[in-house]
Amino acid sequence: MASLTVRKLDDDLKARLRVRAARNGRSVEDEVRTILREAGEDAGPPPAPDVAAGPAVPSVAPRITLIIGGGIAAYKALDLIRRLKERGPEVRVILTRAAQQFVTPLAASALAHTPCHTDLFDPRSEFDAGHIRLARGCDLVVVAPATADLMAKMANGLADDLASAVLLATDRPVLLAPAMNPAMWTNAATRRNVARLKQDGVHLVGPSAGEMAEANEAGVGRMSEPTEIALAAMTLLKPAATPLKGRRVLITAGPTHEPIDPVRYIANRSSGKQGFAIAAAAARAGAEVTLVSGPVGLADPADVNVVRVESAREMLAKVEAALPADAAIFAAAVADWRVAGAAAQKIKKTVDGLPDLKLAENPDILATIAKRGEGRPRLVVGFAAETENLIAHARAKLMRKGCDWIVANDVSPASGVMGGDRNVIHILMRDSEEVESWPAMSKQEVADRLVARIAQSLQ
Ligand code: C5P
Repeated sequence: MASLTVRKLDDDLKARLRVRAARNGRSVEDEVRTILREAGEDAGPPPAPDVAAGPAVPSVAPRITLIIGGGIAAYKALDLIRRLKERGPEVRVILTRAAQQFVTPLAASALAHTPCHTDLFDPRSEFDAGHIRLARGCDLVVVAPATADLMAKMANGLADDLASAVLLATDRPVLLAPAMNPAMWTNAATRRNVARLKQDGVHLVGPSAGEMAEANEAGVGRMSEPTEIALAAMTLLKPAATPLKGRRVLITAGPTHEPIDPVRYIANRSSGKQGFAIAAAAARAGAEVTLVSGPVGLADPADVNVVRVESAREMLAKVEAALPADAAIFAAAVADWRVAGAAAQKIKKTVDGLPDLKLAENPDILATIAKRGEGRPRLVVGFAAETENLIAHARAKLMRKGCDWIVANDVSPASGVMGGDRNVIHILMRDSEEVESWPAMSKQEVADRLVARIAQSLQ
């Protein structure tokens, strides 16, 4: 009989279970029992239901060599060991010297259930070139946190300690989860190293924007969360079907910020989550993806070329620069208006009244691209986020903008879609009167299904 560990279910399923259990006044365990019992009654003797199976564990566990670099985010790497192991892989850990200032080899070994490695010249493992085993006897090398120093060494082929020697010797895919102070991340040397590493085929997840461990510091440089890194690792271990291989896909996401003066701007509540999820799904499906995003606090999805912009006009310029594309998906919530002639200096509050702000219309990026003659992507998909008369407004938008599909979603505050993790969408197509409505699902699932539909239509 299969056993069920609720802790091992994915986060979305756990969250749904908790909500369902609370609604029915049951414990989560009782709720699972009820679901299983009902499934049994409905279907007669069933095969073991999915929830009982837990995460798919390959018969021969894949092996990951995890290199923990020396940064404060190293404490999250301990959790990453668990998040990786609960998905099936065996994890062997290497700690750099600097990493041992933040976490101990004992903690890493206890979590990995195997002694971790720290020394290039360790006689217990180097009698037969153990660093080569660590480098090649695995299916994937993950570096988390990938410090500026480790990345600089990698980019230049240095190998003066166990971690860098393994990284130089490996012929397996390498996934980096960078973490550093924003000033180090934006430094020209790091930019050069990142570009070179990407060119060398190294995969990156993150960093994301947010607060730093340093007091009062924020910006891009936070290491991605362990679950995000684990997801990226699992994707690299089990490459999904790649129906978009050889295709170029362009995606816009997030809000735009329209400056009023150097410190103020007009914006909206878009989180960018749906657009980022579509970009990640398209990359997993094998596409070459460019994601042009307004200001959001989300990490770069793995293997996506992310172009960050502020305003609608910048977004249009970067979208045009990213063409040609086979498909373009416009999920951004572009501000309709900008302030005409934004002030060069901060507008001062005066006693004699309010500032006289004049608005100007922003370019409609979707319509501009959809109505292009030459260089129009074969499939142009727009989004219609509406708070009322969803389908009627979406149909009108489909016609007005000249796109092929509109993905319509209800973003009224009661729907919880804006900023939330779930979405209910309806697809309208130019050459069909029908509306394809999907049940409520996570933005991730919407992304996967949408990408599958897009791949189908490009065939
Ligand atoms: O804002 P609106 O409801 O018109 O947005 C519908 C679609 O048009 C979305 O796909 C959005 O990304 C796109 N859009 C755009 N440029 C604008 C306004 C909207 O690309 N200026």
